[in-house]
Amino acid sequence: MAASKVDHDYVEAKRLIQRENEYYSSATRINYYDLVIDSAHGSILKDVDGNEYIDLLASASAINVGHTNELVVQAIKDQAEKLIHYTPSYFHHRPEQQLAEKLAKLAPGPTPKEVAFGNSGSDANDAIIKYARAYTDRPYIVSYMQSYHGSTYGSIALSGVSLNMTRKMGPFMPGVTHVPYPDLYRRLPGESEHDVSVRFFNEFLEPFKSYLPAEEVACVLIEPIQGDGGLVKAPEEYMQMVYKFCHDNGILFAVDEVNQGMGRTGHMWGIENYHDIEPDLISVGKSIASGMPLSAVIGKHDIMESLGSPAHTFTTAGNPVCCAASLATLEVLDKDNLIEKSKVDGEYAKERFEEMQTRHPNIGDVRMFGLNGGIELVKDKESKEADPDFATKVIYYAFEHGVVIITLRGNILRFQPPLVITRDELDTALNVLDDAFTAAENGEVVVPATDEKIGW
Ligand SMILES: Cc1ncc(COP(=O)(O)O)c(C=O)c1O
Repeated sequence: MAASKVDHDYVEAKRLIQRENEYYSSATRINYYDLVIDSAHGSILKDVDGNEYIDLLASASAINVGHTNELVVQAIKDQAEKLIHYTPSYFHHRPEQQLAEKLAKLAPGPTPKEVAFGNSGSDANDAIIKYARAYTDRPYIVSYMQSYHGSTYGSIALSGVSLNMTRKMGPFMPGVTHVPYPDLYRRLPGESEHDVSVRFFNEFLEPFKSYLPAEEVACVLIEPIQGDGGLVKAPEEYMQMVYKFCHDNGILFAVDEVNQGMGRTGHMWGIENYHDIEPDLISVGKSIASGMPLSAVIGKHDIMESLGSPAHTFTTAGNPVCCAASLATLEVLDKDNLIEKSKVDGEYAKERFEEMQTRHPNIGDVRMFGLNGGIELVKDKESKEADPDFATKVIYYAFEHGVVIITLRGNILRFQPPLVITRDELDTALNVLDDAFTAAENGEVVVPATDEKIGW
């Protein structure tokens, strides 16, 4: 596929967005560029003016099996004709039963699991708070700076990624302590990976030494690979130290797989990038049902039985059409070998970005875990100072040339294409990014003036 320069007179998109701005709250969106999507298939998006784009975002990692995947679409149609909804809060239906069993069996580790459904990744993380408190009879939760767990009052309290997600809305749910997530890119001089693990584990321990009694902590919630925090993976040794600390102190170990689960990292679950860890609780959303509104918390049986009826129920959770979409999504992941493909294509993309890094002075760090990466753009490789202006130029150039990619934390390219992307599409998109780096270096990219900040 040849990426083509996009016709950005895109009259219809501009007209529609101007009108929408009168009716749609600004708090619901992060501003990047004016893209009004009309249709999509596989890895290709089509806008309302007929322009085509290669999608390197997959609707924020919600479309791992590709847009309008045939099996998923058919499952949605078939189920919608049979039963659009009846709430599992009162009665039962087959799609919810089948999916609960499937997810419980898919979760890592030998301990029997149970599932509770919700509507968004955010409410799945709220569920983690509820179940962890109920099971342990302890109040406090530890989560991470730069983590993103969602936008409900519970999950927003757990998050630590953006001041605009805390301004004007506090006070938040009390009892959450945020600790720093390990950063292998900005190490102290001479530090090995082991040194970084030890330093960050010591920082993790600090609250427990001064004001947070371990015996009153219900759970530690961690993203195995931080998504919105910039696609950052904690070292194995650090993760094992936290896991052991939790076990030793009766603290539940919970992982947020909303962004990194469902094959994204070249494993079914992000936590499978580490060895022999069986989480007590797991939150899942996004790609679980190819972007249909469905989430789940999966937990060890006894933990999931610690709350009584009806402590965690939503009218539209476990919707049969969403569950059917999810069952089909899981089938496609398996049938089309997409987890392995994510691994193989991720290695390929990593090599390509690393080669670009030798030629482009602003590419500071290339992090890739499956078809899933953060490309950190900096003013120069020595200072490692973030360069959000450069990153904005790169994504804008890409958009102008038929490739959709956004930034995280201002200066990190978020590379998360649908796992079905073809090698041809991948090459085309990577070539456009290569050209984008060159154009931005040469001062050739003009980003249109906007009243709004671009990016997070
Ligand atoms: C790791 C993680 N957890 C939770 C959420 C929240 O999910 P949702 O937007 O479906 O509520 C997100 C969304 O970006 C996420 O990346």
